[in-house]
Amino acid sequence: MDRTDAAFHEGDMAMLIDRKGRRYLVRLSQAGALHTHVGVLPHQDIIGRDQGSWLRTTMGQTFLALKPTLGEYAQHMPRATQVIYPKDLGNILIMADIFPGCRVVEAGLGSGALTMALLQAAGSRGWVTSYEVRTEQVPRALSNLEAYLGELETLQVRGENIYEGIHEQDVDRVVLDVPEPWSVVEHAAEALKPGGILLCFVPTVLQVHRLTLALEEDRRYQLVETVETLLRGWHVTQQSMRPNHRMVAHSGFITTARRCDPRPGVTRAVTEPEYSNEETDDGKSDDRQPGHRQAEGAG
Ligand SMILES: C[S@@+](CC[C@H](N)C(=O)[O-])C[C@H]1O[C@@H](n2cnc3c(N)ncnc32)[C@H](O)[C@@H]1O
Repeated sequence: MDRTDAAFHEGDMAMLIDRKGRRYLVRLSQAGALHTHVGVLPHQDIIGRDQGSWLRTTMGQTFLALKPTLGEYAQHMPRATQVIYPKDLGNILIMADIFPGCRVVEAGLGSGALTMALLQAAGSRGWVTSYEVRTEQVPRALSNLEAYLGELETLQVRGENIYEGIHEQDVDRVVLDVPEPWSVVEHAAEALKPGGILLCFVPTVLQVHRLTLALEEDRRYQLVETVETLLRGWHVTQQSMRPNHRMVAHSGFITTARRCDPRPGVTRAVTEPEYSNEETDDGKSDDRQPGHRQAEGAG
């Protein structure tokens, strides 16, 4: 789908929005039609029109027609797995620093939402290799990706378990959305270029904790950081301004680390958490915060 072209063509994705804001995603074909409880909208009425046009169903109801953004498409496309929310996709691209020409190893492919964002950011000079153990899901994901991005010349899918190893070498980024990313820490360190970034998305703090300990124990990673993204929409009208009542309160945590040489003078891994008198962000000492024991010889 050419998003630089305002007009709809056969094969394009169209997002049709009704009076109540409900969204319907369709792939346009000459014979196709959207059937709703407020009438039928033939695709032929949409093909040739510009984005932003209003169309009428056979029962006289109006729908707004737009080409979906990547985030909208990822949320509404057919899915076989949980997908990464747009609020996290944006941060993942920035925190993993996915740039045009970037060489990325990813796991798992799932429904393809994150893969789509990675492919778009890496561009035609970069590539993405995606590992996926559930190979029966791959055709669905590929069809999702093709419908939005067109030909997938820069994507390679490996029907393999990434816990068992990474074939690629000298990669810029490793991006993981799998349940046990700590099982990939060692392989990722071997696959990543110096300075490369490992980024993992996990839904629970127990996973973050185990992953962080594995990264520290490996010693080839520095700048180990974890964040989560809270995104709250606002209701804005002439009469009222307030936060929306509903939001996605939790999706997952993003942990990042940079591939570096082991720190000189550190003779043992830092694994055991204990309580310390770390400075808090407001500059006050907070002895309730768990910290990590200073490694022997670290300075
Ligand atoms: C939550 S889904 C990924 C969703 C995907 N990021 C998206 O946005 O559509 C997790 C995927 O990882 C795959 N997976 C789990 N363990 C894996 C492993 N060890 N190697 C490769 N793929 C794995 C699962 O089959 C599943 O498809």
